[in-house]
Amino acid sequence: MKKGLTIVLCLVLVFSFAACAQKEKATIAEIKVGVSMPTTSLQRWNQDGDNIKKQLEEAGYTVDLQYAGDNEIPLQIQQIEDMIADGCKILIVAAIDANQLSGPMTAAKEAGIPVISYDRLIMGTNAVSYYATFDNTKVGNLQGQAIVDALDLENQAGPFHIELFTGDLADNNVNFFFGGAMDVLQPYIDSGVLVVPSEQTTTALCATENWNTEKSQERMEALIASQGYGPNGKKLDAILSSNDSVANGITNALVAAGYTEKNFPVLTGQDCDITSVKNMIAGTQTMSVFKDTRILAEQTVKMVKAILEGEEVPVNDTTTYNNGTGIIPTFLCEPVPGNASNYKELLIESGYYTEEQLG
Ligand code: BGC
Repeated sequence: MKKGLTIVLCLVLVFSFAACAQKEKATIAEIKVGVSMPTTSLQRWNQDGDNIKKQLEEAGYTVDLQYAGDNEIPLQIQQIEDMIADGCKILIVAAIDANQLSGPMTAAKEAGIPVISYDRLIMGTNAVSYYATFDNTKVGNLQGQAIVDALDLENQAGPFHIELFTGDLADNNVNFFFGGAMDVLQPYIDSGVLVVPSEQTTTALCATENWNTEKSQERMEALIASQGYGPNGKKLDAILSSNDSVANGITNALVAAGYTEKNFPVLTGQDCDITSVKNMIAGTQTMSVFKDTRILAEQTVKMVKAILEGEEVPVNDTTTYNNGTGIIPTFLCEPVPGNASNYKELLIESGYYTEEQLG
């Protein structure tokens, strides 16, 4: 009799636990998360969007994922405003222009909606609660170091010729990518081992609007024309490029000028985009920086959960990223250098790409 009662009680407990879990899932599903991405034109943001959506949905949330066309700022503003009006409880935003979102950010703050700045820091607004990104200074350091290693600058007197390219000035990351690379390269420029023949060394002069491939191609073509670079002309030893979309434009210009994998200058990149991985395998691009968007999505989803459940939010940097209103608590993921020697392990064995995608 007693045994029977125990069994009944246990069953009641099991069912009520199951009912609770069910209810919790249903409640979580009522929570809508707004995800605003800058563009569909670059491979990485499509991957970012997919990864975040998938992982948020696995955690039970409802997701409103929007892309602002091809870097259309008014559209991004509109989409964020719609997310707020549609009752999103939290926003994840990768800004096109760091300085142009204060309107919708103020609206989010007034509605009590926390904002996570995703990959790129939104500037000049105190509505940003947290920032999830990769260690952007380290990205630049890795690119600079790859040039130092490839040209063996420690042991050579040079002078080696280098030209410098970075991304869009409205992207706060550019300061960290370019700054991190120049921290490594500047001593060699100062000592004359590296020379920038065009003398274009400021972030503004080296910028690429919207990180656009055609724009970087145009600038490289102009440098080839003005400096006389070429396989049979003035030597060009290295090009610093802050990412792959910019590197691809540089590659197009160099290939058109007659460079082949036999005499290609050292060329850096970032993102391990498929085109660039193929170029690394072919021997034109020297390196890229792999930023595993699955890991960034995972960290961002952890932040979302912690914020919504009122728990301690995981961050590992509370000193580096000031958006003009104060330090934004940040989680930095680890960037890793990628090249023709390690891409298989890094990108294929990790399941990021299939062999066919890179074939
Ligand atoms: C990202 C890079 C990307 C670039 C262009 C930057 O903010 O951190 O990974 O290549 O934007 O989309």
